[in-house]
Amino acid sequence: MYFSNKSICATMYTLTVKATVEQMKSINQWQAEEYDNQLAFVSEYGKDLISWLRPAEGESILDLGCGTGDLTHEISRSGAEVSGMDASPDMLQQARRKFPELKFWEADGQQFETEQLYDAVYSNAALHWMRNPRKVVDCVWHALKPGGRFVVEFGGQGNVQIIVQALEDVLNRHTNINASERNPWYFPTIGQYSSILEERGFVVRQAYHYDRPTKLADGDRGIIDWLTHFGGDYFRGFSLEQIEEWCMEISQIVSPKLNKNGVIYADYKRLRMLAFKPKVE
Ligand code: BEZ
Repeated sequence: MYFSNKSICATMYTLTVKATVEQMKSINQWQAEEYDNQLAFVSEYGKDLISWLRPAEGESILDLGCGTGDLTHEISRSGAEVSGMDASPDMLQQARRKFPELKFWEADGQQFETEQLYDAVYSNAALHWMRNPRKVVDCVWHALKPGGRFVVEFGGQGNVQIIVQALEDVLNRHTNINASERNPWYFPTIGQYSSILEERGFVVRQAYHYDRPTKLADGDRGIIDWLTHFGGDYFRGFSLEQIEEWCMEISQIVSPKLNKNGVIYADYKRLRMLAFKPKVE
């Protein structure tokens, strides 16, 4: 999990939970703790992807974009040797604190090299933050043994489209930026991602693009929390008051569309894939 604009996240934290600047913990520590406290659903959903990974005792597995390590730990229960990699030192600090027996290391998923070759690379809810998928796929290719597998799930085409549309409409209306240029995410189709994998030499065995409505907190809080946790890139350079007003406006627009029986569900769409590096190239 990546948080790409720390100052905005911190600002928004002040805004949403009304903490004073003095009360605030370090921004980064907040992000890692917040991830565990309020975004635990990310790891919960990721457990299902482990059924596609089918880790086995003695295998070596890399968890790419491991966040605070919950799924790295879950995979390790199989007896596989797992290490977690993430670009955020603060997420890693939290991961090491929770799971001191596991190995975690810091690297960008778009430019990493590994000391060893792995039987599998697993990645949950991280690749949509990496805007250069070819680089990711290339790094994974080099990290895998021949015959190794790449098991991923991340946002697929149309992911959170209702929220993104409202966010960009509101910013375009109130500012002179072109909001879509600030979109930090990559949400491909099965065809687009399969092509990238196949161009690199992978064999795609399974692909699944599905709706996974994701329950948010009640009322305006759910959408506002989501925007504050994930939407920082969009709000760069604007004042607290502006951001607060726009988040409320976005919430008013999307809530009726995302409301089912009084509960707000974000319109998540996932892309799940299983690909193999052939034994013989
Ligand atoms: C996702 O998990 O689909 C996601 C998370 C944060 C921002 C955008 C998408």
